Amino acid sequence: MSRRLGIVIVVVIVIALLLVVIGNVATAHTNPPVTTTIQWDSPETEALLRAACFDCHSNETVWPWYSYVAPMSFLVAHDVEEGRSKLNFSTGHGELEGGEMAEQIEGGAMPLRIYLPLHPEANLSDTQKAQLMQGLQATFGGERD
Ligand code: HEC
Repeated sequence: MSRRLGIVIVVVIVIALLLVVIGNVATAHTNPPVTTTIQWDSPETEALLRAACFDCHSNETVWPWYSYVAPMSFLVAHDVEEGRSKLNFSTGHGELEGGEMAEQIEGGAMPLRIYLPLHPEANLSDTQKAQLMQGLQATFGGERD
């Protein structure tokens, strides 16, 4: 191995390690306590919501490995923080309104598109979306506009 290649490999390893250290230290990976219990209309609604929405709208976030590597760590943490600040199914925070949630799903705004390639289980079929929207309205009430 040439000396130059050796240096390049060392530099790449050092940068990769730095990104992991930054992703671990500079990003909070919190899961505060769950303080509310939701009376779901059916287990299917809960399962679909858990698959498609809980990572950003609950305190039961599954933090993936890349959420520990900068700069992805900042993007993931930002989405979770903002998502929880809008609505949090673990605390009841925010406007838990079934009609509004259904609209977000129907319009394709939620789950966030950027989330889908690495979370195929959140990429709901039309049938699953219809079931989830109906279940959210049954659970939380509210009409779609
Ligand atoms: C990858 C993270 C992520 C996922 C997954 C996700 N959300 Fe969100 N959600 C956000 C963020 C960030 C916001 C605030 C910014 C925005 O409205 O785009 C938000 C906002 C919302 C809002 C409020 C919209 C508003 O403008 O007030 C609703 C309702 C919502 N999400 C429902 C859902 C539902 C239902 C699901 C599952 C089908 C879901 N979200 C999945 C991140 C996410």
